[in-house]
Amino acid sequence: MIAKDFLSLAAYTSEDFRLLLELAQYLKRRWRSGVREHALDGKQLAMVFEKPSLRTRVSFEVGIGQLGGRAMYLSGEEVGLGKRESVEDVARVLSRYVDGIMIRTFAHQTVVDLAKHASVPVINGLSDADHPCQALADLLTIQEHCGRVDGLRIVFIGDANNVSRSLAQACSLCGSQFILACPADYAFSQEDISGFGAAWGTRVSQLHDPVQAVAGADILYTDVWTSMGQEAEREERLRAFADYQISGKLLSQAGTACKVMHCLPAHRGEEITAEVMESPAAIVFDQAENRMHAQKAVMRLLMADDRMRIVEQVGGVQLVG
Ligand code: CP
Ligand code: NVA
Repeated sequence: MIAKDFLSLAAYTSEDFRLLLELAQYLKRRWRSGVREHALDGKQLAMVFEKPSLRTRVSFEVGIGQLGGRAMYLSGEEVGLGKRESVEDVARVLSRYVDGIMIRTFAHQTVVDLAKHASVPVINGLSDADHPCQALADLLTIQEHCGRVDGLRIVFIGDANNVSRSLAQACSLCGSQFILACPADYAFSQEDISGFGAAWGTRVSQLHDPVQAVAGADILYTDVWTSMGQEAEREERLRAFADYQISGKLLSQAGTACKVMHCLPAHRGEEITAEVMESPAAIVFDQAENRMHAQKAVMRLLMADDRMRIVEQVGGVQLVG
């Protein structure tokens, strides 16, 4: 049973995650072959941004347009979630106007509270804890470049943050190994480890030596060392992560066919060198494009009137087209 909202992959089963991946591939093929969908004709998405964005905003707005719907941008300052008005009242008011809400915010609890009080689907466009839309797009990109999403070794060089947490959950759901290579003070917490459940130590693990971590990797992944909201820690983080850069040398110690991923925006010279960003191993712009195809699948599944039919269609038979 697909949940009303798309908040965190922790709530997802392997089966439902695979269904979303299949639907994303199907919608991408259809769009590229010239088929124009109307599943979200007349539907409206409200997008609340309490943090900046390029990819998330544009990919949601263009993506819903490709399905016949429309998106509306609302800045965090304007809405004043929890300041001008309670999260509960914002959820109840928006539900009277729109068919879905996408939110990018700080505390994950804000996303949870919004979803609890909204009668329409809520999609997490990044919280301090999770970035599930990114992870879905990442697995779509891995499927395209590696021909599968299972049995791979996916190494994230960076901290335990929203992107690595969601990616670890996605890899685990798909049957791949996820290894976080991080300084000891920036590792997954005990709460994270409990959340990974049986996957911890089998499919999800962490190491502190990046050279040891990258051996045999199919994918090296990184993200900024200082996430939005952590700006005051920037200098401290620059020092802590100095040995955790994806450089040509580190890449050469991974598998020869190893690909490099980054959710973007990238800071060349910090978490990744310009040389690696521009190398044939980097598939970062495919990832960025796939944000749109992945989120079209999420919106198609959660916001269309025929959502149960599409679940049966994707779950029951191979979609073609
Ligand atoms: N990767 C990502 O979420 O990009 P934006 O912050 O630009 O939306
Ligand atoms: N971890 C980063 C991801 C940006 C897309 C952040 O939260 O700022």
